[in-house]
Amino acid sequence: MAFPLQRPRRLRGSEVMRAMMRETHLSLDDFIYPMFAIYGNDVKNPVPSMPGVFQLSVENLVKECGEVVRLGIKAIIVFGIPETKDEVASGAYDQNGIVQQAVRAIKKEFPDLYVITDVCLCEYTSHGHCGMIEGEKILNDPTLHYLAETALSHAAAGADMVAPSDMMDGRVGAIREKLDTHGFKDIPIMAYSAKFSSAFYGPFRDVAESAPQFGDRRSYQMDPANGDEAIRETGLDIEEGADIVMVKPALPYLDIVRRVKDEFNMPVAAYNVSGEYSMVKAAALNGWIDEKRIVLEALTGIKRAGADMILTYHAKDAARWLAE
Ligand code: PBG
Repeated sequence: MAFPLQRPRRLRGSEVMRAMMRETHLSLDDFIYPMFAIYGNDVKNPVPSMPGVFQLSVENLVKECGEVVRLGIKAIIVFGIPETKDEVASGAYDQNGIVQQAVRAIKKEFPDLYVITDVCLCEYTSHGHCGMIEGEKILNDPTLHYLAETALSHAAAGADMVAPSDMMDGRVGAIREKLDTHGFKDIPIMAYSAKFSSAFYGPFRDVAESAPQFGDRRSYQMDPANGDEAIRETGLDIEEGADIVMVKPALPYLDIVRRVKDEFNMPVAAYNVSGEYSMVKAAALNGWIDEKRIVLEALTGIKRAGADMILTYHAKDAARWLAE
């Protein structure tokens, strides 16, 4: 029954046929572009390990959003670099914190740009961990209150969606309850559900200035070796009220993206993280790879694996290439 009856190449003979057969389509609707807000005036700090990514003061961030909108990107995720850090991450839930200021300014100028905020404490704690600490122990339950307050302050500033990335147990439920009891029932939660303890976050920690000052994140982020656990984690976040579940990083975890999609039939986001971006950029700057083809292939692969949306630093470039 196979060859010579079956000839798969019949369907690849022309561009019309290839287009008709194409199963996966990248679209501007898929992209969420990460951006970094920092205090100051007219600040635009390049990040050496992430060419094309900048720490931006609020007015420059708003200006950059103009470019993002012009390119047809519809959603961003905002991270903040605070002026000062302390043990209890005060800058994270300060009404006038850097993310809160940035969100207000962006929504004022671009009300239709969909603004997601990353809810975490590691950029704001002096020790760089995603929770409260006692000695060198990262505490779970006492952290939930601070995460919920952070999410609430983001919603109050006008964020369209919140995205907890801390990996504490029970945080999605705590955030949902806090939002619901304060009039934000309609603000969705995109949970970083299957978030692995990954070396691919290295460059992000340069830009977000969020490297842990002692130890590592392995007591809260997941072991890269574990797939079943990723399914259990994701199931718990859904039970607690997550509207969208995320797998992070993306490319080394495409099996997890597929399993999560098949298991739950939920909207799935994949985070094509900083290290994945830096490796492509480094090779491209050396002239070793065809950046455009590599990026579009990688993003298509993430989508084919089951992601409905992709958080990616390549979004602006990809938007330009898709428009060609
Ligand atoms: C905060 C957070 C991290 C990333 C997103 N949110 C870093 C970390 O967990 O250390 C990583 C994003 C990236 O690498 O692009 N917890």
